[in-house]
Amino acid sequence: MQRKLALGLLAAFLLSFCTAGSAQAKQEKTLYQRLGGYDALAAVTDDFLGRLTTDAQMKRFFVGASTDSQKKIRQHIVDFLCAATGGPCAYIGRDMKTAHTGLGITGSDWDLTVKHLVATLDKFKVPEKEKGEVLAAISGLKKDIVEQP
Ligand code: HEM
Repeated sequence: MQRKLALGLLAAFLLSFCTAGSAQAKQEKTLYQRLGGYDALAAVTDDFLGRLTTDAQMKRFFVGASTDSQKKIRQHIVDFLCAATGGPCAYIGRDMKTAHTGLGITGSDWDLTVKHLVATLDKFKVPEKEKGEVLAAISGLKKDIVEQP
């Protein structure tokens, strides 16, 4: 009788452990994974940069950069987003303040950038929850990027 009880308790313990484990695994999907991983982030970055570099107000920041420099900036942004969203990338570029100081980015440039980013995320049908998380992460960078409020 006692042995049966002990086996029953062990089974209940193992069951609760497994259920808790899988619930935790579900919760622990990183934003990077929920966005679709590296290729999805790279496609989002390309669409977003395409919008910025052809926008009448924003393109002034990117004129004069060689094709290779543009590729480097693009790769840094992909890696930055990958690392910032919990992905397996190492970001080896400069910190945001160092990379943007002196460009004279204004509050209006920032607002336009966020608008383009939202348009990109909508184009890729990123769900509201993930869109909110991306925008919240980006908004934390504003103080280091904008020089003229
Ligand atoms: C108004 C908004 C922004 C403008 C006009 C802008 C413009 C630029 C420009 C012109 C560069 C190249 C700087 C250089 O090589 O001398 C750059 C680099 C970079 N930007 Fe932005 N940026 C903006 C917002 C952002 C945001 C929101 C992010 C975050 C995803 C970001 C991430 C980066 C990264 C990772 C680099 C590369 C840093 C490096 O080369 O070490 N930028 N940005």
